[in-house]
Amino acid sequence: LMKMGTMATINQEISFDIAALVCSEFGFTLMRSDNSEIEELEIEALMEIEEDDEKDLVPRPPVVTVMGHVDHGKTSLLDAIRDTDVISGEAGGITQHIGASEVKINGQKIVFLDTPGHEAFTSMRARGAQVTDIAILVVAADDGIMPQTIEAINHAKAADVPLIIAINKIDKPGANPDRVKQELSEQGLLVEDWGGDVISVEVSAKKRINIENLLEMVLLVAEIQELKANPNKRAVGTVIEAELDKNRGPVATVLVQGGTLSVGDPIVAGVASGKVRAMINYKGKRIKQAGPSTAVEILGLSEVPAGGDQFAETPNDKTARLIAEKRQAMQREEMLKASSKISLDDLFAQM
Ligand code: GTP
Ligand code: MG
Repeated sequence: LMKMGTMATINQEISFDIAALVCSEFGFTLMRSDNSEIEELEIEALMEIEEDDEKDLVPRPPVVTVMGHVDHGKTSLLDAIRDTDVISGEAGGITQHIGASEVKINGQKIVFLDTPGHEAFTSMRARGAQVTDIAILVVAADDGIMPQTIEAINHAKAADVPLIIAINKIDKPGANPDRVKQELSEQGLLVEDWGGDVISVEVSAKKRINIENLLEMVLLVAEIQELKANPNKRAVGTVIEAELDKNRGPVATVLVQGGTLSVGDPIVAGVASGKVRAMINYKGKRIKQAGPSTAVEILGLSEVPAGGDQFAETPNDKTARLIAEKRQAMQREEMLKASSKISLDDLFAQM
């Protein structure tokens, strides 16, 4: 290998061509097994994004994340939104936390990701995943625009995701919504009542003021977006978060973005693969099927995928396993490359 200019360690993957050359040096002929070639093709076909036919598309609910500066009330607002659902008589009891929640307003569903918006934008977008349709930007009326508010505005702009401003804490004595609007205009966001086109709603997460109004605005923006998906294909989507549960093994909250995921389906999610053993919705209920814009917790993966990983239903178990194995091998190789780079740097540092 070294004579051919390939510096490889014993557990490093080398290309087929290089391996064939080495073999021929020793009087052997390396052949691809027919089988593996079929598998390669199968994998490649799967990796290709299935283009949807316009006629197969049906409306889907919007997926929303909440962003904003520290302590401006993101968590409180999500709590208030969830309460709205309880009031509408839908839920009740203890809601199991799955990293996402759904509310129904005027009979229409909205999906909220509990992942802080910034995270949903940065880590997921770094992997090419776009999960959010609309971002709610929370700005505390007694504090105004802060560094993370500006960061959030930039994330939303970069991702081309519409913003709805929730001017929060209007119940507080020091609240000054007009100052927030002024500061927003300095960021190039002119709210509607100032003659602009940015939707803003003055709310109190704590006192539950104007929450329904805010949700109606979300539906309004969603309507303009004409969000659609094809529910009748193999499921695809994004891992929102995942962890190793002591009793249940790897557990991942995924957002189904296209197709329909069913219990028993073989899937691959990042370097993990498996068969969906069980699906649990935001209410902690076991469900059998999850269509587009549904967040579900899934059990049955071989390991813990990373947040932001894409997942895809595969035609069979074997394909799922092969793709995962291939990705694992690639990941190992990347890690080896990274570690050899470090040692080289160390070497230079010593010189
Ligand atoms: P981080 O997750 O730490 O970034 O904060 P957060 O944005 O999730 O804010 P959180 O919801 O934790 O609220 C921060 C504080 O503001 C808490 O003490 C809340 O009780 C308070 N708070 C949130 N919303 C309101 C509101 O509408 N009115 C008042 N008076 N207090 C609020
Ligand atoms: Mg919070």
